[in-house]
Amino acid sequence: MIQIKGLKKTFVLSKKQMAANKDKQKYKVAVKGIDFDVKDNEIFGLLGPNGAGKTTTLRCLATLIQPTEGSIHVNGFDGKTEGEKVRRELAFLTNELKMDTHFTPDYTTRFFGRLHGMSEADIERRITQLFDIFGVTPYRHTKIGDLSTGMKQKLAIVVSLIHDPNVIIFDEPTNGLDIITAKAVTDYLTSLKQQGKTVIISTHMMHVAEKLCDRFAIIMEGEIKAIGTLEEILSQTGESNLDDAFFNLYADTYSSDAFSGGDNHA
Ligand SMILES: Nc1ncnc2c1ncn2[C@@H]1O[C@H](COP(=O)(O)OP(=O)(O)O)[C@@H](O)[C@H]1O
Ligand SMILES: [Mg+2]
Repeated sequence: MIQIKGLKKTFVLSKKQMAANKDKQKYKVAVKGIDFDVKDNEIFGLLGPNGAGKTTTLRCLATLIQPTEGSIHVNGFDGKTEGEKVRRELAFLTNELKMDTHFTPDYTTRFFGRLHGMSEADIERRITQLFDIFGVTPYRHTKIGDLSTGMKQKLAIVVSLIHDPNVIIFDEPTNGLDIITAKAVTDYLTSLKQQGKTVIISTHMMHVAEKLCDRFAIIMEGEIKAIGTLEEILSQTGESNLDDAFFNLYADTYSSDAFSGGDNHA
């Protein structure tokens, strides 16, 4: 269970960042006070274009950065005062996880299992299970540098999930994945939900979200523009599919420069 209340995040920009923006603002309000809950047994989708504030929201939730205002609770633990406990509940997955190419999947996964304080027996059980699900078993003792991109990506997911977290936060889960790997990932997220886990993903791909998620929040310019089940979002926007609902809200939000690009330095 995730509870987010009044979450706001303002970045103080570096000189270099300030030079890059036209209006020379010193601050960037990436998230402007948002509220939502994610239940157990649920896959929640945070949908929005580049620069909307998705990654910032998820990084706050994972306690990787501190919110400027607002509160975060994960399974009852307070992100501000119980960061360590929150981190023990969750996994933060991103396709940017870098692994040392000299080591093997077996060694790397074990290393992270120990880092989480798992027993050797638990690590072994979990490795066997996850390597099997993601097809890593035949490459267990191959140097990571010799693995295909898809296999490296699947291994990164295995490494992040080694401690069997209750809450899974996945920033852009299918970004850059080939179609077979993407299917393995979305199938696994569905199986996590069926095990009663709490899953939150961010994506700008509506068809991925529509298939995978039980509820959605559409976020633009750091604000939630619509939230609920597919039916609720369609009735809020008067549209007949998620794609159209998204573009309807997009046109309203970015009306002055709709479809001219928006913010791309994500
Ligand atoms: N560390 C940072 N410093 C300054 N600005 C940032 C930082 N991280 C994100 N931003 C800005 O905050 C806004 C939201 O970014 P982000 O959360 O990454 O969006 P998304 O993941 O939806 O593409 C963007 O304008 C981005 O440039
Ligand atoms: Mg992002």
